[in-house]
Amino acid sequence: MGPPSASVFRHQWEGHITSEARDFWLANGFLVLKGFSERAETAKLRLAADSIVRDPATAPPVSAIFTTDDQTRRMDDAYFLQSSGRVACFREEKWKCAVDGKEENEGSYVSDRALHTNKIGHALHDLNETFACFSYSENVRAVATGLGLSHPAIVQSMYIFKQPRIGGAVNAHRDASFILSEPETCLGFWWALQPSTLQNGCLWAVPGSHKDGISRRMVLSERRDATLFRGEEAVSYSRDRFVPIEMDEGDLILLHGALMHMSLDNTSENSRHAYSIHLVDGLETYSPNGWLQRPAELPFRKLDDPPFCLSK
Ligand code: FE2
Repeated sequence: MGPPSASVFRHQWEGHITSEARDFWLANGFLVLKGFSERAETAKLRLAADSIVRDPATAPPVSAIFTTDDQTRRMDDAYFLQSSGRVACFREEKWKCAVDGKEENEGSYVSDRALHTNKIGHALHDLNETFACFSYSENVRAVATGLGLSHPAIVQSMYIFKQPRIGGAVNAHRDASFILSEPETCLGFWWALQPSTLQNGCLWAVPGSHKDGISRRMVLSERRDATLFRGEEAVSYSRDRFVPIEMDEGDLILLHGALMHMSLDNTSENSRHAYSIHLVDGLETYSPNGWLQRPAELPFRKLDDPPFCLSK
């Protein structure tokens, strides 16, 4: 069987998961819901992210560069690990090259972080009011329960910029290699906050690859101060197995935790902003060995709970 045709990739959001959409999800491991969010909502999230990257208080250390190149995360381990309970910015790997061609230009980075930030993570949904209201919503709950999560809980959030010309590729991976639960229940939500196209680095996925399961996991080191990988990918997929998934602003894609997916470099003049959250089914299933652990004062919350910043 070849890849599904473009017409079955997209389902118009109707306030609930239809049986047709669920069937597509079960067979393919992903599902695009068209028109999930209004333009006013996507604009609000973009504005909130812009405020964060222009706030001097969120300036990242020089070492906080985000890349999945060679499947390691070459960044400051402490900064990365602590981002689980913060609103932390990470630099684009090519930010130095992009600043007037000069190699070391920290000044330009500081002055225009909005153009050189790779992403913000990983507790936006609990600490920023705009992202909290968007994430802890009835529609998110309807999707999560419609796809089989009985006790959905959000464990991380990311704002992804995919900057014009320098937005780096994200190598093929399965999200459940990074969001560990037992049993594996990781469910990813990924909103296109701008058109996501072949030119600006849209998502690519291998339909049905979620059925191959997880054999590689990023875990905490014994001292719990760094990350390392356990296991190897059991299945490799040739490039022609990946299908591009272009999306319009406001569309949502659901990603099964074991779905193999990736994105390519953004070589265009247009950014490709996206917002993503990852859920698990029941916090008691969440692994104490995963990289993403919250500080005691900011425990994970279920979707039924009010987000941290709105609960006081
Ligand atoms: Fe991913």
